[in-house]
Amino acid sequence: MKRVFSGVQPTGNIHIGNYLGAMKQFVELQETMDCFFCVVDLHSVTLPQDPKSIYEHTLDVVSLYVAIGIDPFKSTIFVQSHVPAHAELGWLLQCNCYMGELNRMTQYKDKSKGSDSVPVGLFTYPTLMAADILLYDTHIVPVGSDQKQHIELTRDIAIRFNNRFGKTFVVPEAQIKQSGARIMALDDPSKKMSKSAENPLSRITLLDSPDQVKKAVMKATTDSEGHIRYDEENKPGISNLLTIYSEFSGMSISELEQKYEGMGYGAFKKDLVEVINSSLENIQQRYRKIRNSDEIIQILKEGAQRAETVANSTLQRVKEKMGFVVL
Ligand code: TYM
Repeated sequence: MKRVFSGVQPTGNIHIGNYLGAMKQFVELQETMDCFFCVVDLHSVTLPQDPKSIYEHTLDVVSLYVAIGIDPFKSTIFVQSHVPAHAELGWLLQCNCYMGELNRMTQYKDKSKGSDSVPVGLFTYPTLMAADILLYDTHIVPVGSDQKQHIELTRDIAIRFNNRFGKTFVVPEAQIKQSGARIMALDDPSKKMSKSAENPLSRITLLDSPDQVKKAVMKATTDSEGHIRYDEENKPGISNLLTIYSEFSGMSISELEQKYEGMGYGAFKKDLVEVINSSLENIQQRYRKIRNSDEIIQILKEGAQRAETVANSTLQRVKEKMGFVVL
């Protein structure tokens, strides 16, 4: 059975970009593949975080995994720091990766821009991500398009390691959706929707109230043309809203263009609010049931055990190949 691994950082409220770009795929993949879904808390401290916020958001992400439909009996849900092999393999991969490779990472360039005290961990972040993926003999990594470069680096590291030490790692592939892989900010469709943008109306989170969703959608930046049609270059705002509508409703973009032909942006946005809210309502109901239950802790304990068994066996293989004395 093919293996799947993916992760989400507990750095803020999960938004519909995370959901449509990555997490919705997790639910589909668990039906046919052996899936590991991680909350990558070690990654989240590469930039300064409030400890209370990391703690709460870690439990939020685990609860949301379950609330969107990830079944802990089918998939392994766990927290990265509960499996020490991630940090250990991360170190070994740092020693098999070059400064030049990490310097080229666009996410590093963006996040370090303008700061003269950049944490070392922000720079080595992709080697920890490579460790996450390679520890599980992963074939497929479902992610949004912003992670493509990190997965290409993971492949390069795996291939190089295999060439030098003999076949050790499975070389993984990114799975990036045709549509929804890059949901844009609602207030500025030239930027990616992000957890950390200052304007809360730039995003819709999975835990937003119906009123918050309405406000964000109704205020979303569009254009003055007045026609509802998909044209990323000239109509990035409407194109982004069409993608969101299509992803939540299951209707294709061309079906939506037909449905709203001759209608104004106001009516389109009003319907979009309803479509989003009805999906979020289901997720939020399940989230509320589970968030403060003992079930979450049980899921994490079992998840950590299952993850650790696989991860430790890969780590041992790596150490043997590299010449460490393994007892
Ligand atoms: P993170 O926490 O930033 O985002 C989680 C997932 O959401 C996707 N995503 C988006 N998709 C579409 N539109 C957007 N606006 C948008 N914003 C975010 C991301 O691509 C991601 O799939 N480095 C990763 C976490 C990670 C990881 C891993 C992922 C650590 N180790 C191993 C896969 C495998 C990150 O920061 O995701």
